[in-house]
Amino acid sequence: MSNSLYERLGGTEGITRISSDIVDNHLTNPSVSPRFQNMKMSPDELKNAAATFFITGTGGPEVYQGKDMVGAHKGMNISAVEFMAVLDDALAALAKNNIGQREQEEVLFVLYSMREQILLT
Ligand code: HEM
Repeated sequence: MSNSLYERLGGTEGITRISSDIVDNHLTNPSVSPRFQNMKMSPDELKNAAATFFITGTGGPEVYQGKDMVGAHKGMNISAVEFMAVLDDALAALAKNNIGQREQEEVLFVLYSMREQILLT
């Protein structure tokens, strides 16, 4: 595979759109929406953090400078069900943006690998 995942997701423009859709999905998904009501950051700031994180993690040019995944979710007591709901939201956003199955699988695998850092810490 010659192209980076970053390129195959549509570069900075595509990933910015996907990240915005993921956060919008969280805000309307009843399984997790209460978590996003009283955040320290605004939804737009979260979209921006998510996009930068994603761009950095898929081989793009940005360098994410936010918290690491343990630090970002510490003390939230996130459940396995909530974690799955966030993965559902991510997959729905990828499908909405016409991302292919292979790329969806790659993103899902990377997100799933962060499970232990995010759950019940
Ligand atoms: C692999 C899955 C996940 C990834 C990659 C991820 C990624 C991120 C990132 C990059 C931030 C911004 C951190 C910062 O810059 O300070 C963030 C914040 C946040 N995440 Fe996650 N997250 C994931 C799962 C979850 C889950 C399952 C929940 C809860 C249902 C959740 C709830 C939140 C909340 C509420 C914030 C904002 C915290 C605040 O500012 O008050 N995340 N996440």
